[in-house]
Amino acid sequence: MLLTGSRLSRVLQLTLAVIKPDAAAHPLILQTLHQRILDNNFIIVRCKDLVFRRQDSESFYAEHSERFFYQRLVEFMSSGPMRAYILAREDAIRHWRELMGPTKVFRARYTSPDSLRAQFGLTDTRNTTHGSDSLESAQREIRFFFPDFKAEEWMKKEEPLFRSGNMRYDHQHQIHTFSP
Ligand code: RTP
Ligand code: MG
Repeated sequence: MLLTGSRLSRVLQLTLAVIKPDAAAHPLILQTLHQRILDNNFIIVRCKDLVFRRQDSESFYAEHSERFFYQRLVEFMSSGPMRAYILAREDAIRHWRELMGPTKVFRARYTSPDSLRAQFGLTDTRNTTHGSDSLESAQREIRFFFPDFKAEEWMKKEEPLFRSGNMRYDHQHQIHTFSP
């Protein structure tokens, strides 16, 4: 499918998005969430399925190590397969967090009923998705999940090509590629 979007004027931003084990365990929910990403005009730069070992989970959420929910969170995040994405869009960090909705599922259902967490989340821990919350965390988290991805090189060489608007969605690999 060739997608010829309009040329975007602002530079694309990268963020890390994760579909957590509660949602990744269900193929239909996973597929629906993938479609919501596409429908919300994110460019899928990378996509991979993986399972966290306990130590990956501990280290990824180290910032929360003093919080009461840390053990529960660490166990949950290493309890089964997840899907990680590098997404690009103007203001990608903010847009993805907006689409996810508030951290707490019951709050999400009340204040943002169309959000992913409101629609698919189960509990305050098993809340369907993760999203980076700043430029610094996006950089760090992209490195954590995709150590081979060269973000600086992507920004220099590929960002202008994607921003120019011509891209296609590669159904087999479930990512966007640009059409020269
Ligand atoms: P995330 O990092 O996963 O994108 O979520 P967030 O920024 O919206 O929320 P954060 O405060 O960073 O919390 C990280 C994850 O910890 C779990 N959590 N459980 N009260 C609880 O039981 C509780 N509070 C937070 C959630 O999985 C949350 O996404
Ligand atoms: Mg967070």
